Amino acid sequence: MDRYVVFGNPVGHSKSPLIHQMFAEQTGEQLDYSAQLAPLEDFIGFAREFFQQGRGANVTVPFKEDAYRLADTLTARAERAGAVNTLSKLADGSLLGDNTDGAGLVRDLTVNAGLDLKGKRILLLGAGGAVRGALEPLLAERPASLIIANRTVEKAEMLAELFDDLGPVSASGFDWLCEPVDVIINATSASLSDDVPPIAGSLIEPGKTFCYDMMYAKEPTAFCRWATEHGAAVAMDGLGMLVEQAAEAFFLWRGVRPDSAPVLAELRRQLAQ
Ligand code: ATR
Repeated sequence: MDRYVVFGNPVGHSKSPLIHQMFAEQTGEQLDYSAQLAPLEDFIGFAREFFQQGRGANVTVPFKEDAYRLADTLTARAERAGAVNTLSKLADGSLLGDNTDGAGLVRDLTVNAGLDLKGKRILLLGAGGAVRGALEPLLAERPASLIIANRTVEKAEMLAELFDDLGPVSASGFDWLCEPVDVIINATSASLSDDVPPIAGSLIEPGKTFCYDMMYAKEPTAFCRWATEHGAAVAMDGLGMLVEQAAEAFFLWRGVRPDSAPVLAELRRQLAQ
């Protein structure tokens, strides 16, 4: 059977095996997908060994930059992201590196939530790997503006410069902003410590602003609670992004697009238990 894995360290918590098993059952594809704990000191050697037999891999923390270096060729979006979350073995045995995280985010926003990003003022919080992966797909939706705000402003400035040929992107500190925006996407890891980036509540126009946290949890995340308290029209977490980035990877490997809705519903049900 064709073998696929998710590489991470730690990786025990990964929902990818469950998601891909559900995709395989749904589409009738025959494949074996498991989680693999890769060693911190030799990801590349470990991954090469797997690809003697294996067909594809998802890559999670902290190996996305290593996977970028391992790939023989890169898709344009992975090249821009500077990180790879999906590796595929091609017919000639070489490895193609892709990054489906940003596409997963945009699909969750536009298809699942029905949000049209064209002409919108978007505020992205954070300037780490998650933001870098999201910038090209977000700018491709042609927003009116995209502000990257970060605690360390220099990192936001660096990203804005790197992507400014793709659209109206600029950098900011958290406390420089007060005018309402249409969409706020939290891509900081602050939610992990139940924290919210220190931004003004006036950035939310009550009943209008759409708020999205790339993190998810059993209960609403700190950012989603903050958004709701300030009257956001929608406060949505990142579980759908997780499923959609997996669906993009599955499509890349198998040429079949799975239906993400029942998989997302099942994950939500399990998370609530
Ligand atoms: P990821 O790959 O998930 O983006 P990362 O590259 O480590 O992770 O980036 C984490 C992001 O969360 C950074 O933008 C970080 O801000 P700094 O660049 O200033 O470090 C941001 N971050 C982490 N904890 C935060 C907190 N408590 N408040 C605000 N921003 C935080």
